[in-house]
Amino acid sequence: MPVRKPKVVVTRKLPDPVETRMRELFDAELNLEDRPMNAATLAEAAGRADVLATTLTDRIDAEVIAAAGPQLKLIANFGAGVDHIDVAAAVARGVTVTNTPGVLTEDTADMTMALILAAARRIVEGASVVQAGGFSGWSPTWMMGRRIGGKRLGVIGMGRIGQALAKRAKVFGMQVHYHNRKPVPAAVADVLEATYWESLDQMLARMDVISVNCPHTPATFHLLSARRLKLLQPHAILVNTARGEVIDESALADLLARGQIAGAGLDVYENEPTINPKLLKLQNVVLLPHMGSATVEARIEMGEKVIVNIKTFMDGHRPPDRVLPEML
Ligand code: DGY
Repeated sequence: MPVRKPKVVVTRKLPDPVETRMRELFDAELNLEDRPMNAATLAEAAGRADVLATTLTDRIDAEVIAAAGPQLKLIANFGAGVDHIDVAAAVARGVTVTNTPGVLTEDTADMTMALILAAARRIVEGASVVQAGGFSGWSPTWMMGRRIGGKRLGVIGMGRIGQALAKRAKVFGMQVHYHNRKPVPAAVADVLEATYWESLDQMLARMDVISVNCPHTPATFHLLSARRLKLLQPHAILVNTARGEVIDESALADLLARGQIAGAGLDVYENEPTINPKLLKLQNVVLLPHMGSATVEARIEMGEKVIVNIKTFMDGHRPPDRVLPEML
């Protein structure tokens, strides 16, 4: 008797090789038009799928999970962040959740470094001037930015991406500092020559560049609150390639507008895809459209991880990238 393939509802268009392999292995329902799903269509999908292959644009809240049929057993997220999924509600209903860590680390760290350089060296501003026909010749005092070599970088969240960023920053001659729930193992800290700050407030007040690399959880929502942002030095640059919710975006825009910090490089926003209009008016920001992991290689490897998680789970084993509520 032929074995029934699991019904996998894929909520967004994925890279072609990933979709093709999914069709080979599963009864995969693809979203070739790449139309983002709303609460109603997600609830319907949860009602018919054995597996939901989600992305960060799907809000899988307790209501969607409550609408799931008894057949839904796995939410295999395409992406490392799972703050759009109510993991506790899923697990309470017997639904396993997985994500795709590791394969986007280096690309996201590259993008973070690019944002640090872009904000410090005014790269986007300079390019815009040239493209607008405004380059009338070199001048000793024009387009001056700030050197990053010799400066202090404070990394908030020293996980995989934080460490990959620290490695790059060290090569650029930056001094690495970090704040984390707990210090990284001595062997890691020694290689990075990284200084641990238990107090985020104290670290913020001393750094030239701050990078947000922690996940968004209830504990990190507005971790960079209006009060904490005011601790930054006037020449400081803040970059965020993690999640917008970690920063009070409105307070940040106000500080930038008043010149109370020098600049920011943001790839993520508090209410994506909406961007605070105050930020859009500023000159001293580099704003990207959440593209930290957007390389062909990373997106294919993320898809491959989704497939491995589904296949392993369906074969009756523990999937390699299971997410548990207590990890968050
Ligand atoms: C993630 O994986 O959570 C990133 O934000 C998107 O790739």
